[in-house]
Amino acid sequence: MSLFITFEGPEGSGKTTQLRLLEAWLRQQGYDVLATREPGGTAISEAVRSILLDPAHTEMRPETEILLFSAARAQIVAQVIRPHLARGGIVLCDRYADSTLAYQGYGRGLDLDILRAITAFATGGLLPHLTIYLDIPIEIGLRRKAAQEWNRLEAQTRAFHQRVRQGYLEMAAAEPERWLVVDASQPIAAVQAAIRQRLAPLLAVGGDEGSDDR
Ligand code: TYD
Repeated sequence: MSLFITFEGPEGSGKTTQLRLLEAWLRQQGYDVLATREPGGTAISEAVRSILLDPAHTEMRPETEILLFSAARAQIVAQVIRPHLARGGIVLCDRYADSTLAYQGYGRGLDLDILRAITAFATGGLLPHLTIYLDIPIEIGLRRKAAQEWNRLEAQTRAFHQRVRQGYLEMAAAEPERWLVVDASQPIAAVQAAIRQRLAPLLAVGGDEGSDDR
């Protein structure tokens, strides 16, 4: 069996904590789990990440931004994610293509169809079996991170983050079979319980070799 599960959410939604807890739980049951993050996860993608998130790069064009995120993604999909799925493992990824639609599309206002086309080119059409969206009001999320730690994207305006959140909620509503929306203002254990509950039937059945062009 193979399963590709992605975590999405606005800043400070606790994605990484939840991903780690899920990873430990799956490992305990003997699953072959690979946990990674975007942008990053390979030497090339981590190098691209540091260009993308550097707060000094205020002149970066939205077009440059989408192409760099996509370049990092093309590399991790081919080098890390697809091989692990082909071996029958479970991949947990902290952010994936839906971040591009939320941040560069809904947030920056780039054309969603163009973003989908670039993303499909970068990923070869690989889609997650399940996308876990941790929803939290932006005021609470941003407050969880000290302002001096904000990277270039986190330092965007409140209105930007509001559009990102609305974008996520729209995408989740449009494709409920793939998305699980969890209220991330709940205690950590309650959020994790909701994730495990949704995952149980998928673990029983198992996915295919990643799902192309669904
Ligand atoms: P990171 O420090 O990993 O933030 P987080 O812990 O919130 O995931 O920084 C990743 C930033 O990049 C985050 O602000 C979201 C943004 N991003 C995009 O704008 N587009 C994308 O396609 C991806 C993958 C991330």
